[in-house]
Amino acid sequence: MLQRPRGTRDFLPDEMEARREIEERMREAARRFGYGQVRTPVFEELELFTLRSGPGIVNEMYAFEDKGGRALSLRPELTAPVLRLYVNEARVLPKPLRWFYYDDCFRYERPQKGRYRQFWQFGAELIGADTAMADAEVVLLADAALQASGVEYELKVGHLALMRSLLADLDEGARRAVMGLLDKREFDGLVAALAGLGREDLAPSLEALVAATTLDEAFALTGPLPEEARLRELVTLLDAAGLDYTLNFGIVRGLDYYTGMVFEGFAQNLGAENQIVGGGAYRLAHLFGGEDTPSCGFAIGFDRVMVALGQVEVPPRPTVAVLSTSEGACAACVAAAAFRAAGLRAELDLSGRGLGAQLTRAARTADYAVLIGAREAEAGVVAFKDLASGVQETLALEAAVARTVGREVDAPGAR
Ligand code: HAM
Repeated sequence: MLQRPRGTRDFLPDEMEARREIEERMREAARRFGYGQVRTPVFEELELFTLRSGPGIVNEMYAFEDKGGRALSLRPELTAPVLRLYVNEARVLPKPLRWFYYDDCFRYERPQKGRYRQFWQFGAELIGADTAMADAEVVLLADAALQASGVEYELKVGHLALMRSLLADLDEGARRAVMGLLDKREFDGLVAALAGLGREDLAPSLEALVAATTLDEAFALTGPLPEEARLRELVTLLDAAGLDYTLNFGIVRGLDYYTGMVFEGFAQNLGAENQIVGGGAYRLAHLFGGEDTPSCGFAIGFDRVMVALGQVEVPPRPTVAVLSTSEGACAACVAAAAFRAAGLRAELDLSGRGLGAQLTRAARTADYAVLIGAREAEAGVVAFKDLASGVQETLALEAAVARTVGREVDAPGAR
């Protein structure tokens, strides 16, 4: 038997309904902030990602050569593609641009719970705004989308300038290595790496910065920085919005393009793979041939949100089972069409069995049954049964449809 590839999943209809429900809630949050959806290709030129996405992601890419010898890759994330789209198609549009996306990404990682090789991101990019208010908008949208999903999580907001200032006299490679270890929270490895660089002296201030929870504590370690005023304004804005978050200057993010404010969110009930959102301020457009454009965005790990949510209640849609004998088949098709037009889910019984057997099955799967045998077909009526109350009536088709309108039904599976 053939199996699906490692790290991928199949989704059955109930799970897809739940995913659509959560996706729709996130979309609605984005729309309310004035964001419109964009979509980019599933694969891109490999170079788009090697330019600045950072070694972590590049090592995990599904890169391949096509039949024309072009170096391509499935997208491991959407920020670089969306900024390429901006440079190609939308440079002249009035700024800021407010875009969101919901698409699948591919990373060749070791699969485990919450970590897949194909996974979906719901994200947004705010392009061409460079203020504390822009940073705040992006954080607040990420939070609004997560709150709408119902997931419980902790939000941490930081800024790269502080860590970078402590590491300012390391060369680029060493700084990257140290920040990479901090990103993975590998503190033992960090101490060893600092020792290797002959910079054990940095360990106490790095540890204190990672532990700092206020701006005053953090800036006491770094001294004054040009970014301080904007960061203080951001905190004022987030507090005024009533956002529930903590400051954390140990957030360094795995991707290389971030330049300022960064944030991450963690679900409480997931295991090791508990990061459900990541984002921040960055610059990419100039690498793709555009002008240097300040941008800010985030991506939610949609699959991790679904795992954290567990069972999702989807508003039930009433179902009518349309049952018939061969003499009633034609009338049954007409009846099904009438219920569908009224917004119900109408399912024809295709088994060819007797009406009794059809009704037994319908009682398990539907809210109403419509039975059409030779007698009903000839008289131009239907037998309409409310499967919850058991009441059966003979009605004209229009009257049967009217019986279902505006009626509450139980959640599917409640009977
Ligand atoms: P990222 O942190 O690499 O950031 O990914 C965002 C989220 O995608 C993660 O927090 C995680 O929830 C989810 N995720 C990542 N890898 C996997 C995986 N293998 N399986 C399941 N979920 C995963 C970015 O991708 C940036 N583009 C975010 C961004 C947008 N920054 C600015 N704009």
